[in-house]
Amino acid sequence: MSITRRCVCPGSFDPVTNGHLDVFTRAAALYDEVTIAVGVNIAKNGMFDSSERVDMLREVTAGLPGVQVVPFEGLLVDFCRARGIPVVLKGLRAAGDFDYELAMAQMNRRLSGLETVFVPTDPEHSYLSSSLVKEVAKLGGDVAGMVPDPVLARLRSRLGSDATGSDR
Ligand code: PNS
Repeated sequence: MSITRRCVCPGSFDPVTNGHLDVFTRAAALYDEVTIAVGVNIAKNGMFDSSERVDMLREVTAGLPGVQVVPFEGLLVDFCRARGIPVVLKGLRAAGDFDYELAMAQMNRRLSGLETVFVPTDPEHSYLSSSLVKEVAKLGGDVAGMVPDPVLARLRSRLGSDATGSDR
């Protein structure tokens, strides 16, 4: 009898970047089922609402085998327990991520035994974050190549066509 290997990739994904997409692609190669859990980070100001973030994620992960996108509220450990998911998979960019991610991993394990696996981010994406992408886009910088094309289009329509892709 074969066992289905499941993991969750949680985040706020406001919006999804090419760094996230790289982590999802690698997760899909390691696990049979990858659930992208779209939550709310109460410490962050959002640009896109949950359904917009879910729509963008579904569009850009449509070709990845075994990947599904699900919004969630409440504790991640409860979401995972209800779905029989034993592992959180996250990308680690640099040392700056580590303290925050380690504390969450230890808290989740303490709460329910939920384990966390970290994958090192591709160096090509190690500086990328949703927050920086939003800041640069809002101030008129070009974020093409940092986010998938459908996300770039949404940013453009949200911020006005001058907001991304300009030479400023
Ligand atoms: O992309 P982010 O903003 O780092 O995502 C953080 C997120 C949403 C994954 C995290 O805040 C989370 O898991 N929130 C759900 C509530 C919860 O379980 N909090 C305790 C985490 S140890």
